[in-house]
Amino acid sequence: MEHSISGGKAVRRALLTRFHQSDLKAWIYGKASPYRELMAWYRCAMMEVETKFKVMNEELSLRYDRNPIESIKTRLKSPESIVEKLTRKGLPLSPESVEENVSDIAGVRVICSYTSDIYMLSEALLQQDGIELIREKDYIRQPKPNGYRSLHLIVAVPIFLHDQKKMVKVEVQLRTISMDWWASLEHKIRYKKVLPSIAEVERELYECAQLGAELETRMENIQCRVDEYHSANGCHEEGKAWRKTKLPF
Ligand code: GTP
Ligand code: MG
Repeated sequence: MEHSISGGKAVRRALLTRFHQSDLKAWIYGKASPYRELMAWYRCAMMEVETKFKVMNEELSLRYDRNPIESIKTRLKSPESIVEKLTRKGLPLSPESVEENVSDIAGVRVICSYTSDIYMLSEALLQQDGIELIREKDYIRQPKPNGYRSLHLIVAVPIFLHDQKKMVKVEVQLRTISMDWWASLEHKIRYKKVLPSIAEVERELYECAQLGAELETRMENIQCRVDEYHSANGCHEEGKAWRKTKLPF
Protein backbone atom coordinates (compact mmCIF):
# COMPACT_ATOMS: atom_id res chain seq x y z
CA MET A 1 0.00 0.00 0.00
CA GLU A 2 1.22 3.49 -0.78
CA HIS A 3 0.89 6.47 1.50
CA SER A 4 1.42 10.17 1.05
CA ILE A 5 3.90 11.42 3.65
CA SER A 6 3.76 15.12 2.77
CA GLY A 7 1.42 17.28 0.79
CA GLY A 8 3.74 20.27 1.33
CA LYS A 9 4.35 21.23 -2.27
CA ALA A 10 0.71 20.86 -3.31
CA VAL A 11 -0.49 22.99 -0.40
CA ARG A 12 2.09 25.61 -1.24
CA ARG A 13 1.08 25.74 -4.87
CA ALA A 14 -2.59 26.07 -3.98
CA LEU A 15 -1.90 28.92 -1.57
CA LEU A 16 0.26 30.75 -4.08
CA THR A 17 -2.43 30.48 -6.71
CA ARG A 18 -4.90 32.00 -4.29
CA PHE A 19 -2.60 34.95 -3.80
CA HIS A 20 -2.76 36.78 -7.12
CA GLN A 21 0.53 36.46 -8.99
CA SER A 22 0.64 40.13 -10.04
CA ASP A 23 0.14 41.21 -6.42
CA LEU A 24 3.00 38.96 -5.42
CA LYS A 25 5.30 40.46 -8.04
CA ALA A 26 4.38 44.02 -7.09
CA TRP A 27 4.84 43.30 -3.42
CA ILE A 28 8.26 41.77 -3.91
CA TYR A 29 9.81 43.46 -6.90
CA GLY A 30 7.96 46.79 -7.13
CA LYS A 31 10.13 49.90 -7.28
CA ALA A 32 8.97 51.15 -3.93
CA SER A 33 8.77 47.67 -2.49
CA PRO A 34 9.40 47.75 1.24
CA TYR A 35 10.24 44.09 0.88
CA ARG A 36 13.56 44.89 -0.83
CA GLU A 37 14.74 46.98 2.10
CA LEU A 38 13.51 44.41 4.56
CA MET A 39 15.40 41.63 2.81
CA ALA A 40 18.56 43.74 2.76
CA TRP A 41 18.32 44.03 6.56
CA TYR A 42 17.90 40.28 6.93
CA ARG A 43 20.86 39.68 4.62
CA CYS A 44 23.02 41.99 6.77
CA ALA A 45 21.89 40.32 10.00
CA MET A 46 22.68 36.91 8.52
CA MET A 47 26.18 38.10 7.56
CA GLU A 48 26.69 39.50 11.07
CA VAL A 49 25.86 36.18 12.69
CA GLU A 50 27.91 34.17 10.21
CA THR A 51 30.90 36.45 10.86
CA LYS A 52 30.51 36.06 14.62
CA PHE A 53 30.78 32.28 14.27
CA LYS A 54 33.73 32.56 11.88
CA VAL A 55 35.57 34.83 14.31
CA MET A 56 34.99 32.38 17.20
CA ASN A 57 36.14 29.48 15.05
CA GLU A 58 39.32 31.31 14.08
CA GLU A 59 40.11 32.26 17.66
CA LEU A 60 39.39 28.80 19.07
CA SER A 61 41.43 27.01 16.43
CA LEU A 62 44.41 29.26 17.21
CA ARG A 63 44.07 28.87 20.94
CA TYR A 64 43.15 25.19 21.20
CA ASP A 65 44.52 23.76 17.97
CA ARG A 66 41.10 22.45 16.95
CA ASN A 67 38.28 24.22 15.19
CA PRO A 68 34.80 23.43 16.52
CA ILE A 69 33.00 24.43 13.30
CA GLU A 70 33.06 22.17 10.26
CA SER A 71 31.02 24.46 8.02
CA ILE A 72 28.45 27.25 8.01
CA LYS A 73 25.51 27.53 5.63
CA THR A 74 23.32 30.57 5.23
CA ARG A 75 20.02 31.06 3.43
CA LEU A 76 17.43 33.77 2.97
CA LYS A 77 13.83 32.61 2.82
CA SER A 78 12.39 33.08 -0.65
CA PRO A 79 9.64 35.68 -1.15
CA GLU A 80 7.29 32.91 -2.23
CA SER A 81 7.89 31.02 1.01
CA ILE A 82 7.31 34.15 3.09
CA VAL A 83 4.02 34.85 1.33
CA GLU A 84 3.03 31.20 1.63
CA LYS A 85 3.75 31.13 5.38
CA LEU A 86 1.78 34.33 6.09
CA THR A 87 -1.11 33.24 3.88
CA ARG A 88 -1.22 29.78 5.48
CA LYS A 89 -1.42 31.35 8.93
CA GLY A 90 -4.03 33.88 7.80
CA LEU A 91 -1.72 36.79 8.64
CA PRO A 92 -1.50 40.12 6.79
CA LEU A 93 1.03 40.67 4.05
CA SER A 94 2.93 43.72 5.18
CA PRO A 95 6.54 44.41 6.16
CA GLU A 96 5.42 44.85 9.78
CA SER A 97 3.67 41.50 9.70
CA VAL A 98 6.75 39.84 8.19
CA GLU A 99 8.98 41.26 10.92
CA GLU A 100 6.60 40.24 13.66
CA ASN A 101 5.46 36.85 12.47
CA VAL A 102 8.24 35.24 10.44
CA SER A 103 11.34 34.42 12.48
CA ASP A 104 13.19 32.31 9.95
CA ILE A 105 13.81 34.68 7.05
CA ALA A 106 17.52 34.80 7.77
CA GLY A 107 18.91 31.35 8.53
CA VAL A 108 22.39 30.38 9.68
CA ARG A 109 23.21 26.68 10.05
CA VAL A 110 26.39 25.89 11.95
CA ILE A 111 27.76 22.37 11.55
CA CYS A 112 29.95 21.45 14.49
CA SER A 113 32.25 18.54 15.22
CA TYR A 114 30.73 17.51 18.56
CA THR A 115 27.70 18.17 20.74
CA SER A 116 29.81 19.95 23.37
CA ASP A 117 30.94 22.38 20.62
CA ILE A 118 27.29 23.25 19.97
CA TYR A 119 26.60 24.27 23.57
CA MET A 120 29.92 26.07 23.92
CA LEU A 121 29.29 28.11 20.74
CA SER A 122 25.66 28.94 21.50
CA GLU A 123 26.59 30.09 24.99
CA ALA A 124 29.41 32.21 23.57
CA LEU A 125 27.11 33.75 20.96
CA LEU A 126 24.41 34.60 23.50
CA GLN A 127 26.95 36.28 25.77
CA GLN A 128 27.96 38.75 23.08
CA ASP A 129 26.97 42.40 23.40
CA GLY A 130 23.72 43.26 21.72
CA ILE A 131 22.56 39.72 20.98
CA GLU A 132 19.09 38.95 22.33
CA LEU A 133 17.72 35.44 22.66
CA ILE A 134 14.10 35.36 21.53
CA ARG A 135 13.45 31.62 21.55
CA GLU A 136 15.38 28.40 22.03
CA LYS A 137 14.35 24.89 20.98
CA ASP A 138 16.68 22.20 22.21
CA TYR A 139 16.01 19.17 20.04
CA ILE A 140 19.26 17.62 21.29
CA ARG A 141 18.17 17.34 24.88
CA GLN A 142 14.66 16.49 23.67
CA PRO A 143 14.82 15.06 20.15
CA LYS A 144 11.69 15.22 18.01
CA PRO A 145 9.68 11.96 17.96
CA ASN A 146 11.03 11.23 14.46
CA GLY A 147 14.63 11.39 15.75
CA TYR A 148 15.50 14.91 14.55
CA ARG A 149 18.23 16.54 16.67
CA SER A 150 19.61 20.11 16.54
CA LEU A 151 19.75 23.19 18.72
CA HIS A 152 17.60 26.03 17.35
CA LEU A 153 17.92 29.63 18.46
CA ILE A 154 15.97 32.63 17.30
CA VAL A 155 18.14 35.64 18.10
CA ALA A 156 17.81 39.33 17.42
CA VAL A 157 21.06 40.89 16.27
CA PRO A 158 21.78 44.62 15.94
CA ILE A 159 22.64 45.93 12.50
CA PHE A 160 23.99 49.44 12.26
CA LEU A 161 22.59 51.50 9.39
CA HIS A 162 23.95 54.98 8.64
CA ASP A 163 21.35 56.67 10.80
CA GLN A 164 19.91 53.99 13.06
CA LYS A 165 20.38 50.69 14.80
CA LYS A 166 17.94 47.93 13.95
CA MET A 167 17.37 44.64 15.73
CA VAL A 168 16.81 41.88 13.17
CA LYS A 169 15.80 38.26 13.81
CA VAL A 170 17.97 35.36 12.68
CA GLU A 171 17.29 31.63 13.03
CA VAL A 172 20.43 29.78 14.07
CA GLN A 173 20.52 26.00 13.81
CA LEU A 174 23.48 24.27 15.43
CA ARG A 175 24.08 20.64 14.55
CA THR A 176 26.85 18.09 14.53
CA ILE A 177 27.95 16.46 11.27
CA SER A 178 25.92 13.36 12.03
CA MET A 179 22.78 15.34 12.98
CA ASP A 180 23.18 17.22 9.70
CA TRP A 181 23.50 14.26 7.40
CA TRP A 182 20.51 12.59 9.04
CA ALA A 183 18.38 15.77 8.72
CA SER A 184 19.40 16.34 5.08
CA LEU A 185 18.58 12.80 4.03
CA GLU A 186 15.40 12.64 6.09
CA HIS A 187 14.27 15.88 4.44
CA LYS A 188 14.85 14.42 0.98
CA ILE A 189 13.02 11.22 1.86
CA ARG A 190 10.12 13.02 3.53
CA TYR A 191 9.50 15.25 0.56
CA LYS A 192 9.03 12.28 -1.75
CA LYS A 193 5.29 12.36 -2.34
CA VAL A 194 4.69 8.66 -2.09
CA LEU A 195 6.43 6.11 0.10
CA PRO A 196 6.00 2.33 0.38
CA SER A 197 5.06 2.15 4.08
CA ILE A 198 5.11 5.18 6.32
CA ALA A 199 5.42 3.39 9.67
CA GLU A 200 8.33 1.28 8.51
CA VAL A 201 10.18 4.20 6.92
CA GLU A 202 9.66 6.31 10.01
CA ARG A 203 10.90 3.58 12.32
CA GLU A 204 14.01 3.03 10.21
CA LEU A 205 14.71 6.76 10.10
CA TYR A 206 14.36 6.94 13.87
CA GLU A 207 16.76 4.03 14.32
CA CYS A 208 19.29 5.68 12.02
CA ALA A 209 19.08 8.85 14.12
CA GLN A 210 19.81 6.76 17.24
CA LEU A 211 22.76 5.06 15.58
CA GLY A 212 24.10 8.45 14.49
CA ALA A 213 23.87 9.73 18.07
CA GLU A 214 25.69 6.66 19.41
CA LEU A 215 28.52 6.93 16.87
CA GLU A 216 28.84 10.60 17.62
CA THR A 217 29.25 9.94 21.36
CA ARG A 218 31.93 7.34 20.64
CA MET A 219 33.83 9.73 18.39
CA GLU A 220 33.56 12.49 20.99
CA ASN A 221 34.96 10.13 23.64
CA ILE A 222 37.93 9.34 21.39
CA GLN A 223 38.56 13.07 20.94
CA CYS A 224 38.35 13.53 24.74
CA ARG A 225 40.93 10.81 25.37
CA VAL A 226 43.29 12.31 22.79
CA ASP A 227 42.84 15.80 24.27
CA GLU A 228 43.54 14.51 27.78
CA TYR A 229 46.67 12.71 26.59
CA HIS A 230 47.89 15.86 24.87
CA SER A 231 47.39 18.10 27.85
CA ALA A 232 48.92 15.53 30.23
CA ASN A 233 52.00 15.53 28.00
CA GLY A 234 52.11 19.30 27.76
CA CYS A 235 51.42 19.41 24.02
CA HIS A 236 49.05 22.29 24.36
CA GLU A 237 48.25 23.68 27.74
CA GLU A 238 44.72 24.79 27.21
CA GLY A 239 43.82 21.98 24.86
CA LYS A 240 41.20 20.42 27.06
CA ALA A 241 39.47 23.56 28.37
CA TRP A 242 36.29 23.68 26.32
CA ARG A 243 35.97 19.90 25.99
CA LYS A 244 35.57 19.92 29.75
CA THR A 245 32.45 22.00 29.32
CA LYS A 246 29.81 19.77 30.85
CA LEU A 247 26.92 18.75 28.64
CA PRO A 248 23.63 19.93 30.12
CA PHE A 249 22.30 16.35 30.32
P1 GTP B 1 8.81 26.42 10.76
O1 GTP B 1 8.95 24.93 10.53
O2 GTP B 1 9.94 27.18 10.21
O3 GTP B 1 7.50 26.96 10.33
O4 GTP B 1 8.82 26.71 12.30
P2 GTP B 1 8.85 25.85 13.61
O5 GTP B 1 8.70 26.78 14.75
O6 GTP B 1 7.92 24.70 13.53
O7 GTP B 1 10.32 25.40 13.54
P3 GTP B 1 11.33 24.44 14.23
O8 GTP B 1 12.27 25.29 15.03
O9 GTP B 1 10.73 23.25 14.89
O10 GTP B 1 12.08 23.93 12.90
C1 GTP B 1 12.58 24.85 11.98
C2 GTP B 1 13.49 24.20 10.97
O11 GTP B 1 14.23 23.10 11.53
C3 GTP B 1 12.80 23.59 9.77
O12 GTP B 1 12.53 24.56 8.80
C4 GTP B 1 13.87 22.60 9.30
O13 GTP B 1 14.95 23.25 8.66
C5 GTP B 1 14.39 22.06 10.60
N1 GTP B 1 13.62 20.90 11.07
C6 GTP B 1 12.73 20.86 12.09
N2 GTP B 1 12.23 19.63 12.24
C7 GTP B 1 12.80 18.85 11.31
C8 GTP B 1 12.68 17.45 10.96
O14 GTP B 1 11.93 16.69 11.54
N3 GTP B 1 13.46 17.04 9.92
C9 GTP B 1 14.32 17.84 9.25
N4 GTP B 1 15.03 17.32 8.26
N5 GTP B 1 14.44 19.15 9.54
C10 GTP B 1 13.69 19.66 10.55
MG1 MG C 1 11.40 27.37 8.89
